[in-house]
Amino acid sequence: MDNTVHSALIWAQQELVALPSSRLDAVHLLAHVLGKSQAYLITYPEHAIDNDTLDIFATLVASRAAGNPLAYLLGDMSFMGRNFDVNRHTLVPRPETEELVEWVLAFSSKESLRCIDLGTGSGVIAVSLALARRDWSIMAVDVSAAALAVAQRNAQQLGADGVMFIEQDGLLGQATASILRSVDLVVSNPPYIAENDPHLQRDGVCFEPRLALVAGNDGLAFIRRMVDEAKSLLCRQGCLVFEHGYDQAQSIATLLYQAGYASVEHGKDASGKQIFTKAMWPGG
Ligand SMILES: C[S@@+](CC[C@H](N)C(=O)[O-])C[C@H]1O[C@@H](n2cnc3c(N)ncnc32)[C@H](O)[C@@H]1O
Repeated sequence: MDNTVHSALIWAQQELVALPSSRLDAVHLLAHVLGKSQAYLITYPEHAIDNDTLDIFATLVASRAAGNPLAYLLGDMSFMGRNFDVNRHTLVPRPETEELVEWVLAFSSKESLRCIDLGTGSGVIAVSLALARRDWSIMAVDVSAAALAVAQRNAQQLGADGVMFIEQDGLLGQATASILRSVDLVVSNPPYIAENDPHLQRDGVCFEPRLALVAGNDGLAFIRRMVDEAKSLLCRQGCLVFEHGYDQAQSIATLLYQAGYASVEHGKDASGKQIFTKAMWPGG
């Protein structure tokens, strides 16, 4: 390639030809290394790029061609209109999870609600809820210290000062011992993929933390535990709401009713898949 924006983009697009988003990814990566907007690249195709910058660009393009998620290479990802830092310790936030947050906001009218986001990862759910509802008290829990560091940075950068970050395995531990039976809402995008699911080999997914994705041989191990543990934390008529696989709704409804929950409801994403479930804990 020669050293103009135009030829760098043509070269990168060819390198990324196996990806459906080859042109867009090339533009994102070049804008990123140049520290310019995408509009700048279109306006100034003859802009000359120095050799060091071209080398960095070539390395990123090779990484993307090898399957590394674009979000990891750029270091951030948009979620509900805000930029969140992400890295290889956090799941790349998915657009469906934006719909989970919207669903939670739509049915939660109570003020000063106490909420726990279990498996916060980059903090997208906890931070988005905190910014939408300043009067909520929100705890963001994750077992991964490295993910929590990213979540904390996001909260700070986006001005969600009130969120409390807790490193804990599951819902029950020292940090939550004092709030038993007083939590109004447990929300989660848990790991829900079965160990042998071929989706784990898909573009990008194999670069994401296994801890964030895999939950036993049927994908329900984490959800079973969360359903059980949430019973000790939720107040009377408190709510457990979470995302899951498109084919798990039925099994999840069964396990929620068997555990004593009531009013189980499923929510659909924009493509019509039942990937959200909400259940009420009657108390007792
Ligand atoms: C599917 S990711 C969700 C991340 C983020 N909430 C999102 O929607 O992008 C699941 C998260 O659960 C965390 N996790 C896995 N096992 C856990 C456990 N036993 N206790 C707490 N968090 C756990 C992972 O570290 C990961 O960040």
